[in-house]
Amino acid sequence: MDTPLHLLFLLLASSAALASANFYNDVDITWGNDRAKILDNGQQLQLTLDRSSGCGIQSKQEYLFAKIDIQMKLVPGNSAGTVTTFYLSSQGPKHDEIDFEFLGNLSGDPYILHTNVFAQGLGGREQQFYLWFDPTLDFHTYSVLWTSNQIIFSVDGSPVRVFKNRETELGKVDSNYHYPKTQAMRVYSSLWNADDWATRGGLVKTDWTKAPFVASLRNFNAAATSSFDAAAEEVALESNQEQKQRLQWVRKNYMIYDYCADTKRFPQGPPPECK
Ligand SMILES: *[C@@H]1O[C@H](CO)[C@@H](O)[C@H](O)[C@H]1NC(C)=O
Repeated sequence: MDTPLHLLFLLLASSAALASANFYNDVDITWGNDRAKILDNGQQLQLTLDRSSGCGIQSKQEYLFAKIDIQMKLVPGNSAGTVTTFYLSSQGPKHDEIDFEFLGNLSGDPYILHTNVFAQGLGGREQQFYLWFDPTLDFHTYSVLWTSNQIIFSVDGSPVRVFKNRETELGKVDSNYHYPKTQAMRVYSSLWNADDWATRGGLVKTDWTKAPFVASLRNFNAAATSSFDAAAEEVALESNQEQKQRLQWVRKNYMIYDYCADTKRFPQGPPPECK
């Protein structure tokens, strides 16, 4: 009888499936009804936007420090006015938040990757980038490594932004400075219409004749970071010349907005964490 072997095989196969990312296990659809769809046995998530609504999901788990990766393929063609998001957020008026937002554009014109960090309800720390590839042709990996010391935003393994915890030095000089480190966050993703501001500051409107707009997600991977893993990753970035050069390359060639350099917005000088 080969039944026991078969059974063993089935058991192994199903535990492997449980261990790998599966949107059925990992997320809840929170708005937009069936505009958010889980496909391919949980391997893929599709977000849709039409004239009446967008949609969104949130992770079942909460994290206080984590390494989160997601692969996304953004709305192709004329995506002007649409915003696709991938972010971490806690609840409440003094919430913390770590944002990746993708601002759509007319066909052939570049998406903007918009990043921000909120701590204790205060944001205003925007940095924006163009991407060095067309994010609509294929899946690319977007990651957040959030530890008690720093937040690293990465695209396809390249760091694009590092936000350090500088509470020890700055807490004394600026009571507004906080670092997100006390509130657990969930992971969110959504697709919605923001044509009042997203594309060229709201000048280009969503073309509803192109609706529904669709973005696809896969390989959602969220791991609570033990302080050991996090320390190892930080040392890796600090000591890895290639990663450092990559970060500089992105910032030099693809960063299009940095709140720290916005002298119109901060005529008296930028916020203290910029120095
Ligand atoms: C859209 O394309 C224009 C022209 O290239 C560019 O100025 C803008 O930054 C692009 N992105 C968005 C989201 O407006």
